[in-house]
Amino acid sequence: MIEDIIQVSHEAGEIVRDGFGKKFGIEYKTNEANLVTDIDRASEKHIKEFIQKKYPMHSILAEEGGETNKEPEYLWVVDPIDGTTNFAHGLPIFSISIGVQKKGKTIAGVVYDVMQDITYSAEAGGGAFADSQKISVSKNDNLAHSVLVTGFPYNISDNPENALEKFTALTKASRGIRRLGSAAIDFCYVARGVFDGFWEVYLHPWDICAGKLIVEEAGGRVTDFKGEEIDIYTKRILATNGHIHQRMMEFLGR
Ligand code: IPD
Ligand code: CA
Ligand code: CA
Repeated sequence: MIEDIIQVSHEAGEIVRDGFGKKFGIEYKTNEANLVTDIDRASEKHIKEFIQKKYPMHSILAEEGGETNKEPEYLWVVDPIDGTTNFAHGLPIFSISIGVQKKGKTIAGVVYDVMQDITYSAEAGGGAFADSQKISVSKNDNLAHSVLVTGFPYNISDNPENALEKFTALTKASRGIRRLGSAAIDFCYVARGVFDGFWEVYLHPWDICAGKLIVEEAGGRVTDFKGEEIDIYTKRILATNGHIHQRMMEFLGR
């Protein structure tokens, strides 16, 4: 199955790469910060058609199209472009994220970094890879030596839990924080040891599903801010190399 997920992520990646920098339609979703482009829709359509043809009994939960609930045993969780704001503004940091769950457990995940042409993949129990190279989280256990990454929800202006205070506190306590704009890529950079930790509130299942498995299979830890196990519907996500997890929880739990 992982080969199929990789194949369809590359096919969708081609659609997205072709559209990058060209003229495309943009609409607002919940507010003027939350965009969807024609290319998000075209990518999602392609992925859905692939799944429906090859795995007709499987369900699909995709960002732009809702859920098709056929046979609950297998669920494909799809973000057709993770990083739409970057895509729409010409910043080449965005990905396609596809996770597959069996009975609520993620068994495979792929994040395709479209413009760098890097395929992150993992199967439960099988390790994590960037293309064919096995990847693992960093060994750093010192928050002061850590580079972290985060993101902000689209409703940040009226969301009381808007993460800005935590951003300030962790900026002072770490070596620095980045905000890339693709949560799926944020997870993968934790998985390959580029970043030591990633946190965000109000992510969606399609932002989390593949990336969480990739971090875990790379030896990292993914929980909520209290250290509890999470699923793809959890609203507070902390993904780290494991070594700085507790220390980050001290900042995020407050
Ligand atoms: C967004 C990106 C971003 C994160 C947002 C997500 P989208 O996904 O992952 O990094 O901060 O919370 O919604 O809308 O580009 O698919
Ligand atoms: Ca997303
Ligand atoms: Ca998206």
